[in-house]
Amino acid sequence: MRTVEYTRRGNPAQVLTLREKPHRPTPGSGEVLVRVLVSPVHPGDLIGVEGPPGPPEQQEEARTPGVEGMGVVESVGADVRAQRPGQRVAVFPAPGTWSDFVVVPAELAVPVPDGVSDETAALMLVNPLTLRMLYRAVEDALRGRPGPVLQTAAGSSIGRLVSATAARHDVRLINLVRSASGAERLRALHPSQPAVATCDDDWRAQVSLYAGERGVRVVLDSVGGAMTRDLAELLADDGTLVSYGQLGSGTTPLEALPLIGRALTVRGVTVLRWTSRTPQERAQDVAFAQELARSRPDLLEVAGSYDLADFKAAIEHARRPAKSGTVLLTTARTTGSGQEGAR
Ligand SMILES: NC(=O)c1ccc[n+]([C@@H]2O[C@H](COP(=O)([O-])OP(=O)(O)OC[C@H]3O[C@@H](n4cnc5c(N)ncnc54)[C@H](OP(=O)(O)O)[C@@H]3O)[C@@H](O)[C@H]2O)c1
Repeated sequence: MRTVEYTRRGNPAQVLTLREKPHRPTPGSGEVLVRVLVSPVHPGDLIGVEGPPGPPEQQEEARTPGVEGMGVVESVGADVRAQRPGQRVAVFPAPGTWSDFVVVPAELAVPVPDGVSDETAALMLVNPLTLRMLYRAVEDALRGRPGPVLQTAAGSSIGRLVSATAARHDVRLINLVRSASGAERLRALHPSQPAVATCDDDWRAQVSLYAGERGVRVVLDSVGGAMTRDLAELLADDGTLVSYGQLGSGTTPLEALPLIGRALTVRGVTVLRWTSRTPQERAQDVAFAQELARSRPDLLEVAGSYDLADFKAAIEHARRPAKSGTVLLTTARTTGSGQEGAR
């Protein structure tokens, strides 16, 4: 089987390699072996390979990127009742999906609804579940007020989900992007939501104007870095900065933020904590994700598809400015059941 691996952190284009392995993994008790058909290249996958800033550290074991994907159950371990070989499933969190096969706990393999394409199914969990977590964080912070909420990187795959949700729930949303063309695209999609581009010198004044006298109640931020200081300045007293990504460069020291004087809250959100929610809450979240995949596949947009062997081209595309949607890695659809053949 083929798998993408790295043994040291660094630039993904340099440290990742494609390996052929003679054996596929075996599912243990309560696990399923999934033949991966499609897996996304998420910004978080690349950040995971890069690791924290500083000199690269040598790892002991090879690791495979990817936390999400879809495929077909190949075999099941002991005590697995809910899944059967041949079933289409989406998996998350499933470390190592940039591979022909991955083993996951059976409870994390979610049936793909009939009629949902493989490509949509591969994007069914991470971003919709992140949306649920962000929405709850915004609700907590708004405490019944209508907003306004400011979101950064608003043209991202997540940002587009946030925009659609805000429109549906009558939350006042201001979209912030880095380019004029990005702002134009968002205005066309959601004419009722103001879109501001940070390439304009007066972008802060534009946001303030749209926010009104009381200022922004919540910032949903996936850019961070040097921009955090500006975002905190735009917040109303008692406002909340929800941080969930680090696309930007530079840093802002905590001490540079008017946290105490203006009673601001800074809150982190990560979908990697999703499994700590109760089984009932997780079931509700998964049902939401399945329904979204069925009813709004347009919100789970694909930017392009590449064979697993072309992962470097896929990474280059995933990092391209003004890309719309998520880049996918695909494997050939073969459902043989014996030991791995010539691939
Ligand atoms: N915390 C979590 O659990 C979680 C889960 C999922 C995603 N995320 C984060 O959410 C963010 C978006 O993810 P995604 O999958 O939706 O991304 P995506 O579809 O790949 O889109 C990336 C977006 O980021 C914008 N961008 C890139 N670099 C930027 C910069 N330096 N300044 C401003 N904008 C920049 C791009 O804008 P242009 O159009 O101008 O190029 C593009 O719209 C990422 O930070 C990701 O790590 C977090």
